[in-house]
Amino acid sequence: MSYAQIEAHPIAGALGAEISGVDLGDLDDDVFKEIHDAWLQHQVIFFRSQNISPEQQIAFARRFGEIHHHPFMRGMVDYPDILEIIKTEDDTHTFGSVWHTDQMFNPEPAKATMLYAKETPTAGGDTLFASMYLAYDALSEGMKAMLADVKTWSVGNNFKNNDGVDRREVYKGNTQMANKVRNPGNLVTEAAHPLFRTHPETGRKGLYIGSHAQTLEGFHEAEAEPIMAFLREHAVQPEFTCRFRWEPGSLALWDNRCVQHHAVADYAGQRRRMHRITICGDKPF
Ligand code: SIN
Repeated sequence: MSYAQIEAHPIAGALGAEISGVDLGDLDDDVFKEIHDAWLQHQVIFFRSQNISPEQQIAFARRFGEIHHHPFMRGMVDYPDILEIIKTEDDTHTFGSVWHTDQMFNPEPAKATMLYAKETPTAGGDTLFASMYLAYDALSEGMKAMLADVKTWSVGNNFKNNDGVDRREVYKGNTQMANKVRNPGNLVTEAAHPLFRTHPETGRKGLYIGSHAQTLEGFHEAEAEPIMAFLREHAVQPEFTCRFRWEPGSLALWDNRCVQHHAVADYAGQRRRMHRITICGDKPF
């Protein structure tokens, strides 16, 4: 696809494109439409050297839909729509350093996530992305048929693929974000979803799996676990991935309906600060 107002430069064969010719603080509807099209096409898009205020980031995010508030973490005092993810020099935990898709434990998981880099390490702290379209396409017809109507079961806290760690305990860098569990008790943080998800806008099928997914509904644990282990590994093989190197002013926008991501925890002793906004999604089918 070619664009009249923007340029899209793929960064890998699988997914991901850098978009140039855009000031995210000053977007008209025609440019936004092309950005949206490029996002659907490339699944994750990146912008460099942006200089936008929190208000401008929120305004850009709102063009994609209603802003989602995390059930376990609190946004910035002045900007509750923005989660400030800080890893200090002393922190030993890195937020999101496991393959996942955002809010899979929600019956209506997040559609998109936008991450804007404020401070970055001199090296390291990249983010990996994997195309779940490619992961689905590469499965055998036998596997696709066997698992066609199967659902996964996901939970939002103390999940087994994150070492059972309580999420409140690990985000030391930002006490504002970590201190308070926002979930007032009436938000559902468990959900069953189709293992093969149809993207509501592109119509393409993708493998819908990530660290929140615990098991397969209706299977014995001994049956589900080897299938899940295979799918988790299959989904993130190098040929399905891209890797983004951050600089201050970089902004990434990924489509949680067809992408998994993983924050690389390789910058011990260095600081990284990001502004993250997620956008509400709908019920997977
Ligand atoms: C996340 O999982 O949203 C964080 C990704 C990152 O910090 O690179």
